[in-house]
Amino acid sequence: MTHQILPTAELGTGGPLVGVQGLGCMGMSEFYGPTDSGEALATLDAALESGVTLFDTADMYGFGRNEEFVGPFVRANRDRVVIATKFAIERSEDDPTRRAVRNDPAYIRSAVDASLRRLGVDEIDLYYMHRRNPAVPLAESVGAMAELVRAGKVRHLGLSEVTGAELREAHAVHPIAALQSEWSVFARDVERSAVPAAAELGVAFVPYSPLGRGFLTGAFQDGAQLSENDFRRTHPRFSGDNAAVNGGLLDPLREIAQARGVTLAQVALAWVHQRAEVHGLTVVPIPGTRKRSRLAENTAAATLRLTAEELALLEPVAERVAGPRYADMSFTSAGRE
Ligand SMILES: NC(=O)c1ccc[n+]([C@@H]2O[C@H](COP(=O)([O-])OP(=O)(O)OC[C@H]3O[C@@H](n4cnc5c(N)ncnc54)[C@H](OP(=O)(O)O)[C@@H]3O)[C@@H](O)[C@H]2O)c1
Repeated sequence: MTHQILPTAELGTGGPLVGVQGLGCMGMSEFYGPTDSGEALATLDAALESGVTLFDTADMYGFGRNEEFVGPFVRANRDRVVIATKFAIERSEDDPTRRAVRNDPAYIRSAVDASLRRLGVDEIDLYYMHRRNPAVPLAESVGAMAELVRAGKVRHLGLSEVTGAELREAHAVHPIAALQSEWSVFARDVERSAVPAAAELGVAFVPYSPLGRGFLTGAFQDGAQLSENDFRRTHPRFSGDNAAVNGGLLDPLREIAQARGVTLAQVALAWVHQRAEVHGLTVVPIPGTRKRSRLAENTAAATLRLTAEELALLEPVAERVAGPRYADMSFTSAGRE
């Protein structure tokens, strides 16, 4: 595998310079089946070595354990790592399926202190509102987040799963460095309003699940193949008839991968980078992996260029996908458009 140093990009106007691909750390603690912690830690180090500097976690991943897991790595490399975390999704270990979305200022003030404590740092580089609760005025939530910047607890602000209109409203209260939402060959609803608004405002876009939660890599064909505690077992796109339809949609990725001597994952990542060019905005996708071999594979994809013919082959894929991105789309930006 070629050892490669990633190019860099500015995370929002005046924001920090980061490697053009980050690392999603969520799967290291929850959602995607059992983890080898030693290999996951080695993957964090290997990522930094290859020029990945944006590391993504959230307070809800593993009920805080993901922040605790990456904390020592962040502290050991404090001057090089840009650590991003998120608040808003309140969960309880007593009832893991329960979710409440909290955007009120009092909650934000307590959430940030808890994240700082778990990460063991004085300041969070990028603090996202993970989900929007429309019952709380956006200006109130972003105002509270801006106070955290003034208090020195947070350096830059981000939002996740907001519409273009919401991004504009928030950006008028305080500059937003990054918008993180799902964006991949399989999930393109953000191109309707969020992506154009980010491009217009100079907000960087951080596509999450750019590998379609692993499905786009061909690593599994049906959620039923995954381990008991893997949340993708019941994901609408990976179960039953939908999984069969969606599996067939991988054919063009396979065809391109074979012709170019690359992997499906690399085709999927190259697509996100080039799609962002069409929209004229900075993207820093955060593919998640717990394995050094995949990290190297994904890093190499950042400089892969697909041809116009290859991009055209991938163009119709998203509109043919069966099943929604989430079982409950009301928590997403698409649910409020
Ligand atoms: N803001 C939000 O609401 C939100 C939602 C979801 C995720 N996120 C963030 O975005 C990050 C990335 O999204 P994601 O993890 O959901 O999905 P993803 O990056 O699309 O896919 C991750 C899955 O693909 C596998 N994988 C990675 N590279 C691979 C490769 N080269 N070949 C084969 N399989 C590969 C990983 O397995 P291994 O780990 O075993 O390699 C994992 O199961 C998360 O870690 C999290 O930080 C944010």
